[in-house]
Amino acid sequence: MSGSFPSGFLWGAATSAHQVEGGLDDDWTEWERANAHRLAISAPGDFSRSSPVWDEIKDQATDPTTYIAGRASGHYTRFRADIERLRSLNLHAYRFSIPWSRIEPKCSWSDDAAVEHYQTLCSMLRSADIEPFPTLWHWPLPRWLTERGGWLATDSIARFEIFVDRIVSALRGNVRYWLTLNEPNVYASASYLLGQWPPERQNPIDYLKVLARLKTAHRKAYQRIKHLSPTSRVGLAHNVTYFESDQNPLNLGLKAIANQLWNWDFLDAVRDIVDFIGINNYFRNRIHVGFNKNPNLKLSDLGWELEPSSLAGAVAATWERYRKPMIVTEHGLADRNDRHRAWYIEESLQHLAAAIKQGADVRGYLHWSLLDNFEWDKGFWPRFGLIAVNYQTLRRTVRPSARRYAQIAQQNHL
Ligand code: BGC
Repeated sequence: MSGSFPSGFLWGAATSAHQVEGGLDDDWTEWERANAHRLAISAPGDFSRSSPVWDEIKDQATDPTTYIAGRASGHYTRFRADIERLRSLNLHAYRFSIPWSRIEPKCSWSDDAAVEHYQTLCSMLRSADIEPFPTLWHWPLPRWLTERGGWLATDSIARFEIFVDRIVSALRGNVRYWLTLNEPNVYASASYLLGQWPPERQNPIDYLKVLARLKTAHRKAYQRIKHLSPTSRVGLAHNVTYFESDQNPLNLGLKAIANQLWNWDFLDAVRDIVDFIGINNYFRNRIHVGFNKNPNLKLSDLGWELEPSSLAGAVAATWERYRKPMIVTEHGLADRNDRHRAWYIEESLQHLAAAIKQGADVRGYLHWSLLDNFEWDKGFWPRFGLIAVNYQTLRRTVRPSARRYAQIAQQNHL
């Protein structure tokens, strides 16, 4: 199997602020301090069976400091050298997020030096011929907002619009593609339904309210961006799972329900207010009177099934429903020893090329992640980076799989 990609296809990598920058102070920072011990204690129960690298990671996974983002991968101060690394990997697109808490550490006060940082980042990317893909919200919130209810606060949308205006006015000269939100479905379910992430709610009503708020937040952000920068392209990064089933009517019915609730509910609401859809895909889910009946042939370090047809399946299903241009805004795996990454990227891209050949309009692929980073409630042990980070020295080492990815990016085919 081989494959080629349309000319001008955007090859790149992605990160998010809280996961790589370091030095942030937001609602997650507070939650990490309160939960680090609990997460370290529960790690053996959560991962000793599912993670193929448990023996190697158990010391780190049971150490509470693993669950504190702290200085993270030090990207805030090392971004210049990291941009060089993107270039050396032949990558021409970089997705990153702008942390609201850094821009507005206090309500109604924005930090000009922080805004300047992102202006410098975007102009350096542009000079390096790398397309910036800023995400305006990738999960953490400023503490002053969570103190009044986070997205449920009555003025959350108005506050978000102020933040969006500030950032878009500052960066519009160098930014052509904007992502409003990252994975509203993942955030709303982990934070308001399952109670795993801050603010740890298990309340279906709040869950639905937050989703409704995020739909409005997207719409308002879209309108503000279009007003301030009419020629820019605006989308969101949406988590799309590839649901698969046999022809059994029960399985087909379950698949339709799963697709509707997880994949389409949010996109249906915003389908006319996106210029492109950002696809984040990590999972295939085979429905067989129940969920997660996967053969699990190859597993990532987190125990997630590595199924290379999953991304193309998610893309094809999204194309079939919306007929909108798409950009893969996340796809990757935790693989500290780089055993599967080159294989997984290559095979997934072959399937993606086939989906494009069959008509799906995909304009780019941004691998998750450029750097090893802080994986939310899993802390630092899962290693998603094309580039490994030594957390003691913050030294970077390019993984061999990244070289293979760089080659594909350069050739624009496999
Ligand atoms: C998130 C990233 C996360 C990745 C891997 C996505 O759902 O947007 O922040 O690191 O998955 O779990």
